[in-house]
Amino acid sequence: MNIYMDYASTSIQKPPAVMKAMAEIISSNHYGNPSRGAHQYSMNAQRVVNKVKEQILQLLNASSDTYDVLFTQNATTALNMVIKGCVKAQQHVLTSDWEHNAVLRPLYELEQSKNILLNFLESATLTGMFDYQQCDQFIKQKSPDWLILNHASNVTGNCLNLEAIKQMAYQAGVPIILDSSQTFGTVPIDFSDKIITALAFTGHKSLYGPMGIGGLVIKKDIEMYPLISGGDGLEPFAKVMPQHQEAGTLNVPGIAGLGGALESFDNKGESVAKKQLSLREKTIYFRHALEKINGLTLYGEVEEQTVGVISCNIHDIPSAMVGDILATDYNISVRTGFHCAPLIHGCLNTTSQGTLRFSIGAATTYEEIDYVINRMEELGREIE
Ligand SMILES: Cc1ncc(COP(=O)(O)O)c(C=O)c1O
Repeated sequence: MNIYMDYASTSIQKPPAVMKAMAEIISSNHYGNPSRGAHQYSMNAQRVVNKVKEQILQLLNASSDTYDVLFTQNATTALNMVIKGCVKAQQHVLTSDWEHNAVLRPLYELEQSKNILLNFLESATLTGMFDYQQCDQFIKQKSPDWLILNHASNVTGNCLNLEAIKQMAYQAGVPIILDSSQTFGTVPIDFSDKIITALAFTGHKSLYGPMGIGGLVIKKDIEMYPLISGGDGLEPFAKVMPQHQEAGTLNVPGIAGLGGALESFDNKGESVAKKQLSLREKTIYFRHALEKINGLTLYGEVEEQTVGVISCNIHDIPSAMVGDILATDYNISVRTGFHCAPLIHGCLNTTSQGTLRFSIGAATTYEEIDYVINRMEELGREIE
């Protein structure tokens, strides 16, 4: 049996509609370069781009009067774009120890280049639980210019109570930038109240689209200096990129593939909620079985886990060593180490060992989970 449990890195089973939509763009000879001409080939491609932008807004319940969708390669590019393009010199950013390097590194760069002030919310030891009181107090007392948060930790699987965060930020007038890399498509996100300023997403994880496509959903009235300048097909004589943010030719096959993936979210929020429930049930089942294994330490808070991520360690064995045994002896593919999110390991006490991360997805079966649990039990006994 070959078992894939690294969905937090990328989802490997895509809906057939993804391939179909991508193949149509590449093989039909009907699609040109969008926004580069008024001929039918260019217009065909532009229609695909516009349609997928609409699908994304619909999934978020977001109004196209308020929000724009900008396509990028992935969440990393979208996060660089919004952080470097929106945070101004000497501004104050509140963020957390849940963040991925896709957020941390642009922020550290701005600390150097624009002298911004950075503060980090600290999570609880071992559970990695977000401290809502700390966040509320900080916002009230210090009124930061930006709140930049990861919706769900890719290390612990803990997911934010987004409604609570939105209310705190809204009352203090603090704009929110949300990293939805682990949640968009798995956890319902509602933009109808227009509180969130920008959301970065990636297509290849919980949206089950192809790699190479992601984006930013951002309020139209937000001033954002472009990260990448170049041809936009619109205003060639302007020396700086005016308004437009999507420089260069777009990844139309990737966009179409993402559109294909989005078709499976037929009744929008409801289908996301269903996926979330099923993933949560599998996650809880998996966690409870792992809990019984001698010498196994589980991280994260069970109540907050809805994205299918479980991190653990066996005794003090380096996580990479256990991951290698699982891969070579049992054909079980997991991720080990620090998962590009260094700060959370301080509160999990895993800065030297890292964690063994199982991440499951929509296609993971209970049979696969049972198989992994049995192998982990064997491993626990052998190590004792
Ligand atoms: C929380 C989080 N943010 C950002 C990213 C970056 O996503 P991508 O590699 O698609 O840019 C990841 C990827 O693992 C992630 O888990």
